[in-house]
Amino acid sequence: MSRDMLVRGVPPEVDSWISEESARYGVSKREFVVSVLRKAQDGGQMTLFSGPGAVVEKSVAGALPFKFVDLFAGIGGFRTALGRLGGTCVFSSEWDRYSRKTLKSWFGEEPAGDIRKVRAEDIPDHDIMAAGFPCQPFSIAGVSKKKSLGRAHGFKCADQGNLFFTLATLIEAKRPPIALLENVKNLLSHDSGRTWNVIRETLQDLDYVVHATVIDAASWVPQHRERIFIVCFDRRVFGDAPPFEFPAAPQAPRPKLQDILEKDPPDKYTLSEHLWTYLQEYARRHKEKGNGFGFGIADPEGITRTLSARYYKDGSEILISQGKRKPPRRLTPRECARLMGFPDEYPIVVSDTQAYRQFGNAVVPPVVEAVGREVLRTFGWQLEKKGCLLKSPVARYGRKRA
Ligand SMILES: C[S@@+](CC[C@H](N)C(=O)[O-])C[C@H]1O[C@@H](n2cnc3c(N)ncnc32)[C@H](O)[C@@H]1O
Repeated sequence: MSRDMLVRGVPPEVDSWISEESARYGVSKREFVVSVLRKAQDGGQMTLFSGPGAVVEKSVAGALPFKFVDLFAGIGGFRTALGRLGGTCVFSSEWDRYSRKTLKSWFGEEPAGDIRKVRAEDIPDHDIMAAGFPCQPFSIAGVSKKKSLGRAHGFKCADQGNLFFTLATLIEAKRPPIALLENVKNLLSHDSGRTWNVIRETLQDLDYVVHATVIDAASWVPQHRERIFIVCFDRRVFGDAPPFEFPAAPQAPRPKLQDILEKDPPDKYTLSEHLWTYLQEYARRHKEKGNGFGFGIADPEGITRTLSARYYKDGSEILISQGKRKPPRRLTPRECARLMGFPDEYPIVVSDTQAYRQFGNAVVPPVVEAVGREVLRTFGWQLEKKGCLLKSPVARYGRKRA
C-alpha cells in the first residue's frame, strides 16, 4: 500500500504552507487545517484568522490534494473537474483510439487500454475512483444478485462482457475510499428498476454507502442533460452514515445558449437545403401521427436539448436558426465543447465526427466539480473526526481490509 496518498498525502509545498501559516498565527498545524475546512464548509473561498494579511485564497478543495483514477475516461470530463479541485490523476483507461488522441493532447499522456485486461495491482492506490461506465443494461438485467454475488469471484462469473461488473471487481480489489460514477438517467428505470437495483445492491454488498441522484446540467451549462451521479463511500472508512449531500443548483442566473455561440461559424455547419427539407417533412409526418417533433431549433435565450453521441449524423436535435433566408446550422465542435463545459484552451485534435461523438458521450465537468466539492467536504469531515489530518493515510482512515 502506498503511504503517500491524498487528502492523506500532503505534498511538501502544501505542508510548508500549513507550517508557515500555523506558526504565523500561533496555532497547531491541525488547528490551522481544521479552520480551513470549517471555513470551506461555509462555502467557496475563505478568509482565515481575520487580521492584517491573513487572507488565504484557497478553498478546501485546492488545499487538500488527493489522487484519483479515471476509468472509461472518454475525453477526461472527470479528470478536468477533479484536477481543478486539486486532484492528481494516477491512472486512466480508455480504449477508443480517437478519445485516446484527445486525452493525449489534453493531458499529455496515454491512458491504458481495455479495462478488462488491466490487472488491479497495476492501478496505483487512490482516493477517488471515477468512472462513467458504459451502460449495458441488457446484460446486467439478466444477472440476478444471487448469480453475481453468490460465489467467490462472482462478478467474473456473472457476465464476462459486462463492464459494470468489471468496475465492481476493481472496486472490490482496490477499495477506493470513494467511487464517483455517472451514467444515463434511464439506468434508474430500465427493466422496471431491476437493473439499478442490481447495481446499487452490488455496491452496497461491497460495503459501500451509496448516494445517487439525477442532476440536470442545465444549471451549469446551457443544455438539458440529466445524468445519474452515484457517490459511494467505503463504509469501513466513513462509517454507516457519512454526511453527504449532492450540490444545490448554483444561484447565479442560468447560462444561456447565446453565451456559448461562435460569432462567425464556418458555412460548412449550415444544413444543406436537401437535408433541411427532409427534416421538416419528417417532422411534419411525425407530428401528424402524434409522435412529437423531429428536429429542434434551440432558443438562444434558453438551453438546448441533450447533446447526444449521434449528433454528428445530422445534428437535428440542436439546430441554430439563421433567419428565414438560410437553413439552420448545427453547432460547431467548439460550441459542443462549451455546451459541455470544457474550456476553450483544450484544442480539438480529431475530426468533426469524432469530436461530436466525444462531447456527446462526455460528463459535464462543472457538474462533476460541484459534486466533487461536496465529496471533499465529506473527506474533510472524516479527517477532522479522526483528528488526524496530517497523519499517514492508513492512520487517517483507520482503514481495515476485510
Ligand atoms: C460514457 S463514455 C465516458 C465518457 C467520459 N466520462 C468523458 O467524460 O468523456 C464511456 C467510455 O468508455 C469507453 N470504453 C468502453 N469499453 C471500454 C473498455 N473495455 N476499456 C476501456 N474503455 C472502454 C468508451 O470508448 C467510452 O469512451
